[in-house]
Amino acid sequence: MSFIRSVVLGCGSYLPEKTLTNAQLSEIVDTSDEWIVQRTGIRERHIAADGELTSDLATAAAKLALADAGLSIGEIDMIIVATATPDDTFPATAVTVQRKLGMEHGAAFDMQAVCSGFVFALSTADAFIRASQAKRILVIGAETFSRILDWTDRTTCVLFGDGAGAVILGASVQDGTREDRGVLTTHLRSDGRHREKLYVDGGPSSTGTVGHLRMEGREVFKHAVGMITDVIEDAFRATGYGADDVDWFVPHQANLRIIDGSAKKLGIESDKVVRTVMLHGNTSAASIPLALSVARDDGRIKRGDLILLEAMGGGFTWGSVLLRW
Ligand code: UT7
Repeated sequence: MSFIRSVVLGCGSYLPEKTLTNAQLSEIVDTSDEWIVQRTGIRERHIAADGELTSDLATAAAKLALADAGLSIGEIDMIIVATATPDDTFPATAVTVQRKLGMEHGAAFDMQAVCSGFVFALSTADAFIRASQAKRILVIGAETFSRILDWTDRTTCVLFGDGAGAVILGASVQDGTREDRGVLTTHLRSDGRHREKLYVDGGPSSTGTVGHLRMEGREVFKHAVGMITDVIEDAFRATGYGADDVDWFVPHQANLRIIDGSAKKLGIESDKVVRTVMLHGNTSAASIPLALSVARDDGRIKRGDLILLEAMGGGFTWGSVLLRW
């Protein structure tokens, strides 16, 4: 049987040059390297330069993904940018990226699911490709969370960083079996009853300001592992695969304790887990494509590997993607 799959054709990532270490943070707020490492695993994060916008980070990652895939922008039909920190309220950051890449055809739009944004964007791109409405889609996760942090609030400002990652999905006719390359299954969830546990206290329609990130960290933590493992079990049920079949687990990078707790609960071996949170912090929608790019570039992720992605974030939103590289 012939079946259209969305196969990863290339990937790339970009981190701003400036880094901020835990020691430097302890000069700004009442915190310590010891506390941050013990509670989160984070040692440093990257911070966008003045005037460096989410669209700049996204464009840099996109150019590397295009080069990696050996494609020109003329061969891309659609751009989806997952971000909670757009350049402006509107237009979508994706159309700015479209312009910066010199693309004058197709469609570009943003996806807003905060830290789950990349999983939502990948799932959306996969649906367009399987419906034969697009052949090649540039899917980007890009954030400048440093711009929405309250730098006097030690409970949040130590956790996040800036960055971008991109993948290109392309249509490929396959057999329709679970041995196919490409996206095999996606599972998305949200529950707005948890809105106040992780939100930004401003917006164009509410306050007319951008606002700052607010989080009840302990509450988010309490729900995280259960929600993550639920959608991963959905992916396993849909494909018949299990923890032992996964070659690489590439979770959203919010906190090492959540990452390792989820892997343990699922029975995924520790050496199959890709961890970048130590050096990137939580880059929200950018964290998964950044981690994918790092693990592909250092030779861990190889063609044919079974890759499990998951994310959970503000909303709450959460989701999983199982794909063969
Ligand atoms: O990507 C979106 C999803 N977001 C997440 O997944 C984040 C989920 N939450 C977490 O990762 C963790 O809850 C945090 C890392 C945010 C916090 O860790 P925790 O173990 O839950 O700590 P806590 O909030 O229970 O705070 C423990 C103590 C408190 O002091 P008291 O009340 O025990 O005296 C805090 O005031 O640590 C204090 N504290 C800090 N101390 C030094 C909070 N932030 C800091 C800090 N430095 N930066």
